[in-house]
Amino acid sequence: MSTIWLNGSLLSGDEPAIKADDHGLLVGDGIFETAKVIDGTAFALTRHLGRLRRSAAGLGLELTISDGELAAAVAEVIAANEPGVGRLRMTVTGGPGPLGSARGADGPTVVLATGPGSTWPASADVVVVPWPRNERSAVAGLKTTSYAENVVALAHATERGAGEAIFANLAGNLCEGTGSNIFVGLDGRLVTPPLSSGCLAGITRELLLEEIDAVESDVSMEEFARIDEAFLTSSTRDVQPIAHVDDRALPSCPGPFTKQAADAFAALEARTLDP
Ligand SMILES: Cc1ncc(COP(=O)(O)O)c(C=O)c1O
Repeated sequence: MSTIWLNGSLLSGDEPAIKADDHGLLVGDGIFETAKVIDGTAFALTRHLGRLRRSAAGLGLELTISDGELAAAVAEVIAANEPGVGRLRMTVTGGPGPLGSARGADGPTVVLATGPGSTWPASADVVVVPWPRNERSAVAGLKTTSYAENVVALAHATERGAGEAIFANLAGNLCEGTGSNIFVGLDGRLVTPPLSSGCLAGITRELLLEEIDAVESDVSMEEFARIDEAFLTSSTRDVQPIAHVDDRALPSCPGPFTKQAADAFAALEARTLDP
């Protein structure tokens, strides 16, 4: 396996390094970030570090390492694994802790790891899952390592031949995918659910909202059933058109909004790696 960075040291990813009582392992007490790596540089690193800090604050995790130190560690772990690095994963857990929900006093575990880039199909089929996102949850909108709900939802979609699962929220509105945000073409407008829907503040979503004309607005699941086009966004997918929602083939894939979004995102990426 590749070289990892763990609490200040570079180590072989093949060696046991994290203690068996780590609270991230025991109870999913942790946060993470996934960034795309382009030519040795983590894309939008400043925004990823900002979201990591917001997730840490949301979980009450004390992140004593500075952004500058983290950025230096990111450069170090990418360089140690080049060539072929396509993604960076940053994970921060509650550190060693007791066997219950209370956190220990040793301070967080910080792990940086890299991997190859992902390749995604030109379009995705999605399935709406029967379990709602809880937009009123204590961890709504935080990128926590407690992703078991996403694992179950994605398996549900995969069993039905789809590439992503889509959640509605408790209010019956569209929310997000297991690892993606969603934009839809509806009544001539490009719309994405607002952060109050419980979705993650996706960095690709945020960048697109700055680049193109799109509105943040609740989309009821009744409206979602009659959208004209849609696409998923994430740090590894960029913009991925949606072909089918459940059994319904969308009228256009990729539709005009999707093409505009994909072009705008590619242009942004060509312009700067730290937008
Ligand atoms: C639940 C969830 N929503 C949305 C996204 C997309 O966010 P980003 O564009 O920052 O990758 C992710 C990323 O993995 C995610 O896990």
